Amino acid sequence: MNTSFELNDGHRIPAIGLGTWKSKDDGAYRAVREAIAVGYRHIDGAWIYGNEDQVGRAIGDAVRAGDVTREELFVTTKLWNSFHAPDDVERAMGESLKSLALDYVDLYLMHWPIAFRPGVMIPDEDSQFWPLSDMPLEVTYEAMLRLKERGLTKSVGVSNFSVNKLEVLAAAVEQFPAVNQVELHPYHPQEKLLAYCAKTKVHLTAYSPLGSRDRPPRLLQQGEPTLLESSSLQDVAKRAELTPAQLLIAWAIDRGTSVIPKSENPDRIRQNFVHLPHALDEQTRAAVDAIATRFRFVNPQGMFRDGVTHEGSDFWA
Ligand code: A2P
Repeated sequence: MNTSFELNDGHRIPAIGLGTWKSKDDGAYRAVREAIAVGYRHIDGAWIYGNEDQVGRAIGDAVRAGDVTREELFVTTKLWNSFHAPDDVERAMGESLKSLALDYVDLYLMHWPIAFRPGVMIPDEDSQFWPLSDMPLEVTYEAMLRLKERGLTKSVGVSNFSVNKLEVLAAAVEQFPAVNQVELHPYHPQEKLLAYCAKTKVHLTAYSPLGSRDRPPRLLQQGEPTLLESSSLQDVAKRAELTPAQLLIAWAIDRGTSVIPKSENPDRIRQNFVHLPHALDEQTRAAVDAIATRFRFVNPQGMFRDGVTHEGSDFWA
């Protein structure tokens, strides 16, 4: 079953997408081919993942092989932080479309509410950040909306935005973002953001839904918990006759969020394409909701500078 959710601009987003962060080279190609063959119709990528050419090659080959049509697919990519100037927004979109070998994407997301000086991939000093007072998020966002007007993306959204940042953006732009893609799973359920987005009709996509164990070492935190190995989660999954990963995916969809588990393994890609109605039974839902551990896996502190990247003391507030 290909459950999907309606976005605030009338387009629909398939509930399960293949995450491609951390998939490299031929692994990314094979994962996308396999996912499409299994029935995934939603592929999530980004310029910074450095694999858009492989993702694009897989999409092109799948279309040529008759596995799927372009129109049946929902392809997302994201604007990296060093392309926040309006001219660079256009250039970055051009680069992504060229690598993907596509005429348009379905969703273009601002990757972070943070700007880097042009040419800086990952900053290591304050001067490499572009203060938002000089390059406001709404200026970048409006440039993204112009890409939509030109048909280069069907929908425009954001990623890693808190309630406060969504409010600031919404006050300044004409169209509310269609999507906010953020980290969501039972250790980081973000109830306040979920409620706010339901009220304002911003669809949430859950990234790192399985706890993203394969993150690069610089993003690993000492002593962090592992979500898939949580004994409470494993107990609930067993009772529900699901694998822990399937339970996490079904739980995400049950909350009305789309979800983008990453895998490069054919069996796990297949396993993660959960064929379930998107409602969990009450008991299973309550048991997952009762998991008490709280942890944010993606928390790149080096990107958060008080007064430079954001106002106030907590980037996520
Ligand atoms: P692999 O790519 O070898 O399958 P996230 O989506 O939260 O970023 O998590 C991705 C991580 O979870 C990867 O290490 C991926 O490994 C692993 N993974 C994906 N699907 C499953 C699954 N069904 N069971 C166990 N691990 C999984």
